[in-house]
Amino acid sequence: MGTVIAFANQKGGVAKTTSTYNVGVALAKKGKRTLIIDLDSQASLTISAGLEPFEYDNTIVTALKKEGSDIEKCILSLQINLDICTSRLELAQMEIEMIGRAMRETILKRAIAPVLDKYDFILLDCPPQLGLLTINALACSDYVVIPVKTDYLAYRGVELLMESIAEVKTLINPQLSVMGVVATMFEKRVKDDNEILQALSQKHNVIGVVKKMAIAKKGVYTGLSVSEQSPKNDVATEYGKVSDYIISKAKG
Ligand SMILES: Nc1ncnc2c1ncn2[C@@H]1O[C@H](COP(=O)(O)OP(=O)(O)OP(=O)(O)O)[C@@H](O)[C@H]1O
Ligand SMILES: [Mg+2]
Repeated sequence: MGTVIAFANQKGGVAKTTSTYNVGVALAKKGKRTLIIDLDSQASLTISAGLEPFEYDNTIVTALKKEGSDIEKCILSLQINLDICTSRLELAQMEIEMIGRAMRETILKRAIAPVLDKYDFILLDCPPQLGLLTINALACSDYVVIPVKTDYLAYRGVELLMESIAEVKTLINPQLSVMGVVATMFEKRVKDDNEILQALSQKHNVIGVVKKMAIAKKGVYTGLSVSEQSPKNDVATEYGKVSDYIISKAKG
């Protein structure tokens, strides 16, 4: 059984997608069979992987359909050990439709069940809301990784997310646990960033500190992870460490 990990934070622009993609590539490079799933209608993960969202008919939207759908046909191979289930704009409509369905919190769980055994890790790139898609992600995950930008508002947002995680754990998925926080876009020279990092470390298990670097941004339009662009880069090294931590913590 693969370990399912949601990369979640309702705050926008905190590097959820960048973290999902770079950790996914790092896990694949370490020989772990990895599936990354784009759960955002903006399709940033799909684009980050160098794909054009509208070129694919079978996406996560298909996999979430009421009548059910074979998720395998919605999965593409990106590289050795790394597969993706892409997203497209219509996911926004699907999320609204899902609200009126039975067992609406576990629609994603049902969708991914057939491929759980095929992968060591399934990473879910959540959208920046605590909406039904994020709840679905939390409902089928073993762990949550929380990317947090080292600024005050992002720091304050973590409490809200923790409350939602606790609620999903109580009501839907007792197995769920927080793997840790990845501090992102950290600037060592900025005093605030250091203070926020310290505050984060006091309250949470910080499993990585990723520096702010232009190379991480560049990956989005080159379709390359940081480690593919520059394997020894600090950002790539840090996501490599996060992936080691994930491997060490994951069940079986
Ligand atoms: N370490 C980094 N250094 C510099 N820029 C970064 C870094 N990590 C991510 N970025 C950039 O910050 C922006 C936001 O990152 P990303 O899209 O991963 O965040 P997100 O949390 O997924 O956003 P959203 O909430 O919109 O889904 C992107 O332009 C990305 O390229
Ligand atoms: Mg994103």
